[in-house]
Amino acid sequence: MLLIRSSQFSKLIRARHLLAIHNPFIRGAQSGQSSSVSRAVLIGKRAKLQQPEQQRLSSWFTPRSAQMATAATDNEEIPEIQQEEHKLPPHPTGPQQKFRKDYAPPPYTISTVHLDFILEEETTTVSSRLRVLPNYGLLEEGASRPALKLDGRKDAKLVRVAVAGNELAEGQYTATEKQLTLNNLPPGEFEVEVVTELRPQDNSLLEGLYKSSGNFCTQCEAEGFRGITFFLDRPDVMAKYTTRIEADEANYPVLLSNGNLKESGKLEGGRHYAVWEDPFPKPCYLFALVAGKLSMKERSFTTCSGREVALRIFVQENNLSKVDHALESLIKSMKWDEDTFGREYDLDLFNIVAVDDFNMGAMENKALNIFNSRLVLASPETATDLDYSRIEGVVGHEYFHNWTGNRVTCRDWFQLTLKEGLTVFRDQEFTADMNSRAVKRIEDVMVLRNSQFTEDAGPMAHPIRPESYIKMDNFYTVTVYEKGAEIVRLYDTLLGKEGFRKGMDLYFQRYDGHAVTCDDFLAAMADANNVNLDTLGRWYSQAGTPNLHVSTSYDAAAKTYTLFCRQNTAPSPGQDVKQPVLIPIKLGLLGPDGADLPLRLRGSDGSVTDLGTTGVLRFEEAESSFQFEGVEVEPVPSLLRGFSAPVKMQVEGQTDEHLLFLLAHDSDPFNRWESGQRLARKLLLKLYAAAAAGGGDHSAKAVGERCTAAGGVPDAFVGAYRAVLGDETLDGSFKAMAVSLPTGNELMDSIEGADPPLLYQVRMFVVKQLALQLRPELEALVAANDDQPGETYHFTAAACAHRAIKNRCLAMLSSLEEPEITHMLLNRFKAATNMTDEIAALSCLVELAGPDRDTALAAFYDKFKDEPLVLLKWLGLQATSNAPGNVALIKKLVDHPAFNITNPNNCYSLFLGFGRSPVNFHAADGSGYAFMGDAVLRVDTINHQVAARMVSAFSTWRQYDSERQVMMRAQLERIVSHPGLSDNVFEIASKSLK
Ligand code: PHE
Ligand code: ZN
Repeated sequence: MLLIRSSQFSKLIRARHLLAIHNPFIRGAQSGQSSSVSRAVLIGKRAKLQQPEQQRLSSWFTPRSAQMATAATDNEEIPEIQQEEHKLPPHPTGPQQKFRKDYAPPPYTISTVHLDFILEEETTTVSSRLRVLPNYGLLEEGASRPALKLDGRKDAKLVRVAVAGNELAEGQYTATEKQLTLNNLPPGEFEVEVVTELRPQDNSLLEGLYKSSGNFCTQCEAEGFRGITFFLDRPDVMAKYTTRIEADEANYPVLLSNGNLKESGKLEGGRHYAVWEDPFPKPCYLFALVAGKLSMKERSFTTCSGREVALRIFVQENNLSKVDHALESLIKSMKWDEDTFGREYDLDLFNIVAVDDFNMGAMENKALNIFNSRLVLASPETATDLDYSRIEGVVGHEYFHNWTGNRVTCRDWFQLTLKEGLTVFRDQEFTADMNSRAVKRIEDVMVLRNSQFTEDAGPMAHPIRPESYIKMDNFYTVTVYEKGAEIVRLYDTLLGKEGFRKGMDLYFQRYDGHAVTCDDFLAAMADANNVNLDTLGRWYSQAGTPNLHVSTSYDAAAKTYTLFCRQNTAPSPGQDVKQPVLIPIKLGLLGPDGADLPLRLRGSDGSVTDLGTTGVLRFEEAESSFQFEGVEVEPVPSLLRGFSAPVKMQVEGQTDEHLLFLLAHDSDPFNRWESGQRLARKLLLKLYAAAAAGGGDHSAKAVGERCTAAGGVPDAFVGAYRAVLGDETLDGSFKAMAVSLPTGNELMDSIEGADPPLLYQVRMFVVKQLALQLRPELEALVAANDDQPGETYHFTAAACAHRAIKNRCLAMLSSLEEPEITHMLLNRFKAATNMTDEIAALSCLVELAGPDRDTALAAFYDKFKDEPLVLLKWLGLQATSNAPGNVALIKKLVDHPAFNITNPNNCYSLFLGFGRSPVNFHAADGSGYAFMGDAVLRVDTINHQVAARMVSAFSTWRQYDSERQVMMRAQLERIVSHPGLSDNVFEIASKSLK
């Protein structure tokens, strides 16, 4: 997976976190129209087939060659939403935007690739031999054959080019920094040979071939292969690869590439070689090579058809003891994909290599996954429960790509969500099955709300299938990944497990070995289930989070209960007008005792359908109503169970009493959590308004007084938390999340001109009040969930649950800032036997100013100075800290020997960590912004992708008060006009300013 989702991790919760903006729902008169109960279409039972099967036949599978020969865009099937061209200001180096609508198949394809790498300390030589096939169809009379334009990069030096065995002299080809153009090509198939020279040791972009900790490795997604050799660097060109690697044997004993090892041997002068062959055609973004000094641990997996697969993880020698969890996770993933989707692994070997310098999380290269080492290595002493769980999820994610991404790949990069949304969905389901489904769902929704909703409401908003980009790297976003997964989940919710599986089977059957589009996926799902999913298709082209407004009415005489639903989506950059989308509303109705009532849904034709106690309504128009009959008493509705659609829902007339009732009784665990969140959100926003109205003194004391005057934290709220904490039926992980307040980011979107430090104070006030009033309960839970003496660490759902609730309670208690508690935390920190507990205690201490903070940080550094992954936590905790005036400390950290600015993980921990501090990044004097602006420009000279992630910290500037807006804008303007800026940073900064 991924994009370093950790770039935005909240330290408060074990979730990838987010920000959010709220578009107030446009209210309209809507209630009381029981006569207009219109179309209640029920899902999952295939009650209505709005489109006959044969209408879809035309979109059935087209062979790849045919597909390539037609310049069809993928717009036809999924309805288009009006989209203006997203105009950008001029840029000194003139970056080009690419548009989805411009897709055309390439005039040539490549069937086989032979690569030969001569790896040396100074110059690496890459010889590439391509079998090129014409793909231009019939030429008009007299027309000359099209040119072959191969993508390149300026640091890949062209040494030789030959066509059909003839070396071309200068003048017989055109070469620019970015492209090699070959003209006068022979008819039919022919061979092209290209030799390039590279300096991987100087490649700090970490795209293409580079060195990490002395080893050679590659990263080719999205467009890194062109940094290795001139090529048709696009995913719809799929070829079979043979790769020969030659290197010094002592320094690079391990030589790996995709597929199977065909041959290896010794050469003169202490050198050796290996030849790898990948039998599966693949796009070049899945190519990989590794050469280095690595140790390996191996396990074996027997597939469902009885084949033995060797599973190997390669790491540096000193890390060999930390790979067991990743290996275990891989085995679980392989088994799960067989059991759940009938997908078997297709080669006899599956390799994973861990590297320290990696821009993202991990990469699914065919049979040779390359991972950021932080997503492979784990031991109880160095990794937290969250690390263990991420490793399991990401190992699964990359493995699942073998079918969703590699066997069936994307036609062009606009289709990225085809593989990523689907694979995230699959990894989410895997984790849900391995651990707790409810806990996983809540975590995923927290991520979505915290960062995706914010992205969707800001200047970088884009549909899950974007319409244009300058740098594809910038579109590995929470929208493409996480919202993309939510859209895949819509199919699952609408079609049911069985229907979804049928759709997946058809998708693989039709498209195995091909490069396809999101429309193809939708078509497979629709065809396999004989349903019309056109309104679901709109989610692919529309940016922004839809608002769902629900009002209800109960007719006691007729015993009917009616839901009136409305939806709208606010305009986003380039999209002023939005259409309604298909929103599956999963729901239940609670009776007075808290039990679910039977759902009898009345259709527009008067027929009644029995939905059991949890049903799914298919809401796909601007307005619809749904009527239930036989409802004996007015129920409390539990809507959007399991968060059945990525929308913002407003329920008219939903009172605190309703929410307290749902929190106590809902049979849907997600909605129990959600009701608590809604209560907390209301409370925090109310207190924030009071605090903001009270003038300029934003000290904790002044803010506390204003909040208290506004009613403070009501008893009912405290009581609800008390009930959750004491509920024996709930597991600790769920409880921990249920008593966590919504993040500041999530609230920000509901506040016009927000002041982040003030919001932070308000939130801390509430935490403190809760801790004061619930102290006995919190202390009791700490005791009850503490380790037994001598207990060893296990990564099991049960053990994680104990640690989760214990550490949440400790964090709440630490807000009291009492010497006794602080002392207890220091003792816990010293005595901790696993990283989960150790970091939990340390993160509390880091928020407190004073000697204990410094002692603890120094001790931690001393203990882990030789563990770079643990030092990331040390950097991150300090960077994210809200201890006032922390900017000065962070500036010093940049010069600390432990900090390495060329390593992406270091930058993410320090700079992105800092960007998450409401107090210090948003310091009123602008010092945090200036620091970040400088850091962006500095990092951009090293690594454009990392710098682009950093500059995103400024994208939310419109959310804040006018002083902060001015300062943040000024940083963006300074960055955009900086000479020599990368296209990556330019794209984010310029779009943010729009
Ligand atoms: N494709 C990777 C994943 O999601 C992410 C990635 C993208 C890694 C680009 C590196 C470069 O699994
Ligand atoms: Zn992925």
